[in-house]
Amino acid sequence: MSLAIVILAAGKGTRMKSSKPKVMHTLAGKPLLQHVIDTAKTLNPSELVVVCGNGADIVVPYVEEQGYKTVMQHEQKGTGHAVEQAKDYFSDADQVLVLYGDVPLTTTDTLETLINLGSASLKLLTTQLENPTGYGRIVRDEDGDILSIVEEKDADDDIRLIDEVNTGIMCVPARWLNAVITELDNNNAQGEYYLTDLVAMAFLQGMRIQSCLCEDDMQVAGVNNRLQLSDLESHYQLTKTTALMEAGVTMIDPGRVDIRGDLKVGQDVHVDVNVIFEGNNIIADNVTIGANCIIKDAEIGEGCEILPNSMIDSSTLMTNVSVGPYARIRPGTVLANKAKIGNFVETKNANIGEGSKVNHLSYIGDTDMGEDVNIGAGTITCNYDGANKHRTTIGDRVFVGSDTQLVAPVTVEDDATIGAGSTIRKDAPADALTLTISKVKSLDGWKRPVKKK
Ligand code: UD1
Ligand code: CA
Repeated sequence: MSLAIVILAAGKGTRMKSSKPKVMHTLAGKPLLQHVIDTAKTLNPSELVVVCGNGADIVVPYVEEQGYKTVMQHEQKGTGHAVEQAKDYFSDADQVLVLYGDVPLTTTDTLETLINLGSASLKLLTTQLENPTGYGRIVRDEDGDILSIVEEKDADDDIRLIDEVNTGIMCVPARWLNAVITELDNNNAQGEYYLTDLVAMAFLQGMRIQSCLCEDDMQVAGVNNRLQLSDLESHYQLTKTTALMEAGVTMIDPGRVDIRGDLKVGQDVHVDVNVIFEGNNIIADNVTIGANCIIKDAEIGEGCEILPNSMIDSSTLMTNVSVGPYARIRPGTVLANKAKIGNFVETKNANIGEGSKVNHLSYIGDTDMGEDVNIGAGTITCNYDGANKHRTTIGDRVFVGSDTQLVAPVTVEDDATIGAGSTIRKDAPADALTLTISKVKSLDGWKRPVKKK
């Protein structure tokens, strides 16, 4: 059974009060539309097409860059009209699944249940709402068979009492849809071509109509304004943090941890407040993460300790590494076992060997550092000559005195010692002390300036 998926994303989103298209607003760091696309992908569709309109200048390239198709709906004449624009893309499939680009949290399971209800029927995902105002109502006969969907604005008082509503997500046999989509009219309160009118058409033609009731409101909730967006964000975050706690992570306050992306964690990981995880992170057992850390695309090995106010980006920490407080680990940093990066230290594109320490106020960039090195406070690898980047190579057991500049390209050999306050422009040999000598003078009779009266 081949499945074509049509995602509707042409609407204006007026209530967002934004110059950005609604579907590009982010939830957990990812555009709403991307959530829908990612879930759609899990269903292995034969075709995936996004109907674009408002904000198409941004949405079309965004979708096409990922290799998916788009069609334009130049004027928003209703959901039926929107689906019609995608006609060419679903005519070869068996079934068509219609999703909304602004309904981000539907799960694969829910969609699979809907799709698998029966191949020849029109299938609707419905939900029951305490306050159904604004939604299309599911109208059934005495036997419970679905007759039609009536939109709020077209409904009489009796129909408005119905609390089972259309989520908008439906799955339709493709050939039938292809044949009838052009027969929709706009004789209704809003003058729109309603996709929901297919239901009455199916009923009249004796086609089977099935439904699946989604018990979880959040899975079918759409975003119309920023308040709803933040409600969905909170719900999403709580789902994620709950799953992590169930998997053996301690969180001081799950309401103050944000997960934006994919996070794999081991056991007995301890996460303090205001920690943000972005992108793809893999965190092993017994890792401790202090308050106010941002961890992005990192691999963190067993027993590592990230102290408060640190940022780690696109880097690897092997085991029992200690980082922070106030450290910034930038892309391409690899910290070997038991390495230690202390406060106000920035690293970038650097391999720091096993047991090596950069404890205070340093910049280590484009560097290969051996084992058991000790880098004194205020050491800077001068990696940039204004045009090109150069590497610094530091051997094993090197000791670099405080306030040293290592001007790359430069090599400091094994067991070398660099005297404090040096500017090293030449390679420093093994087992020797290398330093810049500058004379210390004391001037007799010198007077401190005094403030003028
Ligand atoms: C629609 C359904 C209603 C359902 C509700 C659930 C119809 C006629 N009504 O109503 O039964 O209860 O969703 O939220 O289908 N869109 C386009 N092009 C258009 C119109 C809409 O792409 O011409 C897109 C929007 O961007 C949005 C989605 O379709 O993502 C739904 O449109 P919206 O206007 O919100 O539909 P409702 O009137 O809320
Ligand atoms: Ca809506």
